[in-house]
Amino acid sequence: MKGVILAGGMATRLRPLTAVTNKHLLPIYDKPMIYYALLAMAEAGIKEVIITSSPDHAEHFKNLLKEGEEFGLSLSYAIQDQPGGISQAILLAEEFVRGDKFVVLLGDNIFNHSLKNAVERFETMEDGAFVFAKSMPTESGQYGVIEIDSEGRVLSIEEKPEHPKSDLAHTGIYMYDKRAFEFIKHLSPSARGELEVTDLNNIYAKEGSLHCEIMEGWWVDAGTSFDELLRANIRVAIERGKLNTKMIDDM
Ligand code: DAU
Repeated sequence: MKGVILAGGMATRLRPLTAVTNKHLLPIYDKPMIYYALLAMAEAGIKEVIITSSPDHAEHFKNLLKEGEEFGLSLSYAIQDQPGGISQAILLAEEFVRGDKFVVLLGDNIFNHSLKNAVERFETMEDGAFVFAKSMPTESGQYGVIEIDSEGRVLSIEEKPEHPKSDLAHTGIYMYDKRAFEFIKHLSPSARGELEVTDLNNIYAKEGSLHCEIMEGWWVDAGTSFDELLRANIRVAIERGKLNTKMIDDM
């Protein structure tokens, strides 16, 4: 199975931090953000990963990560000329994936949930796709929201709904069979002009082949706001034993 990490987009919600620097190079505790997606891929047993990013920043990633030796990964790079959406960025990986199944990680998602079991399970499955959900308040309108039936089958996903149908946030972790690329080629841009990952996932949901794993532990979409970026830093620092409430009181 191959890996795809998305590190493009405009990151307007984090300006001016991202006016010059790519969001995925901002620090999360002691590492650039993109390291966490790379470490998650390596931990899941993925060996070959492609990173998609914008024309202005592709060289920064190459200079930092080179061929991926530090992670035990073989890294490739692709450039997304315009931020035309998550599905558009995924399509750039078609040649790299070459008929294999693949995992996609949005490079601004930081979490402590192992993907290993799901990856191994997906390897043995027939056609289909996987989304990962996190149970949390979804009224903020910041996330896609997943609706599942009593047997855990995905009924639909709505992109940032005003009235969410569940408390299951649609995280930025996905797994696809090789048909995903053909499905993307038939998507139309959304109202915000993007090829949406939600629309891709809804094709699988309609077909009845979209599986959902509910994540344990914590998950942060660090690209949403300054507060979420800070929360990701704090989560990692706590996990490393570098921060606790006493230390905060003592500051
Ligand atoms: O993080 C989870 C959320 O990610 C989901 O709940 C939503 O359903 C999904 O649409 C997505 O929403 P965001 O608003 O957070 O997406 P954002 O535009 O921030 O992009 C997410 C990542 O994808 C980020 O790491 C940048 C990358 N990206 C984004 C776009 C639009 C690209 O590489 N290229 C792009 O064109």
